[in-house]
Amino acid sequence: MGLSGSSGRLHVTIDVGRVRADTPGCEHVVHFNNAGSSLPPRQVTDAVVDHLRLEERVGGYEAAAAALDRSERTYDALAELVGADRDEIALVENATRAWDMAFYSLPWKPGDRILTSRAEYASNAIAFLQTARRHDVRVEVVPDDESGALSVEALRDMIDERVKLIAVTHVPTQGGLVNPAAEIGAVAREAGVTFLLDACQSIGQSRVDVREIGCDLLSATGRKFLRGPRGTGFLYCSRRMLDRLEPPFLDLHAATWTSADSYEVRGDARRFENWEGYVAGKIGLGVAADYALSLGLDAIEERVTGLAGALRGRLAAIPGVTVHDRGARRCGIVTFTVDGHDSRDVAARLSAAKVNVSVSAAYSARWDFEARALPSLVRSSVHYYNTEDELDRLCEALPSA
Ligand SMILES: Cc1ncc(COP(=O)(O)O)c(C=O)c1O
Repeated sequence: MGLSGSSGRLHVTIDVGRVRADTPGCEHVVHFNNAGSSLPPRQVTDAVVDHLRLEERVGGYEAAAAALDRSERTYDALAELVGADRDEIALVENATRAWDMAFYSLPWKPGDRILTSRAEYASNAIAFLQTARRHDVRVEVVPDDESGALSVEALRDMIDERVKLIAVTHVPTQGGLVNPAAEIGAVAREAGVTFLLDACQSIGQSRVDVREIGCDLLSATGRKFLRGPRGTGFLYCSRRMLDRLEPPFLDLHAATWTSADSYEVRGDARRFENWEGYVAGKIGLGVAADYALSLGLDAIEERVTGLAGALRGRLAAIPGVTVHDRGARRCGIVTFTVDGHDSRDVAARLSAAKVNVSVSAAYSARWDFEARALPSLVRSSVHYYNTEDELDRLCEALPSA
């Protein structure tokens, strides 16, 4: 970490040499699949492996008891990361399960309306459609503004007393767009409507503060920009919403069996968890959150958006390459196509050159792909440990149009 300054304002910057030294994967690949799963820092891997070794030596339950401080730290670290309190955090397997536990807790009645974004992730859209079928609720996609983000004005116009939920993806899986979460939160608060934010792709690459945004519920995953272990995720549920939401599944961790025919749901967000869990992963997730906090979220965002902007510039200058990212505010996800080449072939060619990217296709965000008549896209997602030289390596390995 270092300090740099202009016009008297000092800010922390990322020490790229240090974060690369912490990231063994940097020696082996050029990794631009951070929106899929980042290269973890060795601190995260060590924490996971150390706990698995402890389980091997003393037994799983005994290891969990011995490491209780470490697994409990994860709640504090994640609470700090999103500006919440620790009892508003639930640790679950992934972002989808976090989102589902929140969404399927809502008490639906016929005629309720769900307002959502066009960029929505497939799993969320499928859950909307299932709920629409089951409960006769309406799913309505808020139009985009001219930049390609959800139009806050259109959202405001669509509000009425039947709107039960605003559910929006902060950063979509298929592009560099950042939806205006705080402006959406302001509309939701004004209307008294529950706001569920899918922050799966924004957590770890930018500052995401639940109080500033004003969301009631937020879902996120461990393995993407947060650089945590696979199989980890978390849900933020505001204290205000806790008593109003009974999870779709309960077990003896989420609730207490109080008499032969009664039970009591926990008072904190752990009502959305289940008893058995991946303790090593939970510990690793906390280490990943602490790692991000130690670098500083503003410094992370500045570096990630800087590198992504540089990549878009380089790609746009290559004949036959089209960059597809939209939105007035953009993030570390860069999507593009190369004329005359299927994106899967482009990704395979990059992979052969030891450059990891992924491909985004219609199945992951059908509303957006169809509205924009998009083919499959090469998704190149940068992180703060990437370098300008790596951007060049990607561009040089592209097939010519
Ligand atoms: C926007 C968005 N939401 C949710 C998810 C699901 O995350 P997970 O695979 O951790 O359940 C993804 C995964 O790519 C995503 O991009």
